[in-house]
Amino acid sequence: MQQIFITDVSPRDGLQNQDIQVSTSAKLQLIRMLVDAGVASVEATSFVSPKAVPQMRDADVLMKQIGLTLPHLRVSALAPNLRGLDRAHAVGVKEISVVLSATETMNQRNINMSLEAAVEACVLTLQSAHNRGLRSRAYIGVAFECPYEGVTPLSVVLALSQKMLDAGTNEIVIADTIGSASPGAVVERLSALAEVTPIDMLAVHFHDTRGMAVANAWAALGVGVRRFDASAGGIGGCPFAPGAAGNLATEDLVLMAERSGFSTGIDLGRLLDAVDFAEIQLQQRLGGRASAWLRRQREKIAAGSTPIEFENLRTNT
Ligand code: COA
Ligand code: ZN
Repeated sequence: MQQIFITDVSPRDGLQNQDIQVSTSAKLQLIRMLVDAGVASVEATSFVSPKAVPQMRDADVLMKQIGLTLPHLRVSALAPNLRGLDRAHAVGVKEISVVLSATETMNQRNINMSLEAAVEACVLTLQSAHNRGLRSRAYIGVAFECPYEGVTPLSVVLALSQKMLDAGTNEIVIADTIGSASPGAVVERLSALAEVTPIDMLAVHFHDTRGMAVANAWAALGVGVRRFDASAGGIGGCPFAPGAAGNLATEDLVLMAERSGFSTGIDLGRLLDAVDFAEIQLQQRLGGRASAWLRRQREKIAAGSTPIEFENLRTNT
């Protein structure tokens, strides 16, 4: 069975847009529940300005606690500049992500830099991460469409990806920040990227604004991509991208992939427990498109009957 590799970004992309300030201990508990579900990689937080994203002001404390309590977890954190990298490195982070949006306006809104300045900040941060022996991921944000500038030219996405690779990043994350991609566009863009980048260095990051995220993930699988970002319960969204909605829900991706013959290593029953926990913390109903059905299957299992139509609900047990 072919494996796919999922990074759950719910503690970072999921929480950054939430009004309710989630406590550090609750964030740690959510991450622990994701690990219990079999999630092998988590993007836990952002080392950004606490004025820009107040939810992430506990990044240093949270990462220290993760290091102490979940030492074997592959955990990454967003670091938009050298200051963020220094902070991350000081608390033992081994993998960082930089965010480069593919358009001028989106960089201005997101990180208060021109495209040129953003490229420079990302290059410096990636080079420094490499010199410190850290792994890195480079997001190419608004890689399909920008809420301010419309369709992003593919040539720009290709050129920026190459700059990030030249700066030593280990992974390019093609991000559909506002959820405007379609499967056709995914095939077009990822095929072009795969011609110039080793496929195992390409990851995708989809938002589900128009209900296309699972279809887009399927299209990326078809191109050969095996690295996916997703967010438990589908929580997510960029505070600086108008119209952006939640991420591809991890449970939707796992269900689609497992049912299609791919192995994720993730236990859907336990993943739903993590979604329930996030619901309580955020005081809102969460869950991707499959969650209502998944929850019904979980109730049937709890009542003692194994639903024959879904033998994979507890894949690890
Ligand atoms: N961590 C903490 N504080 C930081 C920081 C970091 N990585 N980088 C800069 N700062 C602080 C500065 O010290 C300064 O603090 P002060 O106002 O108390 O003096 C303040 O932030 C502004 O610094 P400056 O260098 O002028 O940056 P800026 O105002 O142009 O902001 C970013 C740039 C990148 C720090 C800011 O836009 C940011 O954090 N954005 C968040 C982006 C994000 O998370 N988006 C969602 C994910 S895609
Ligand atoms: Zn996102």
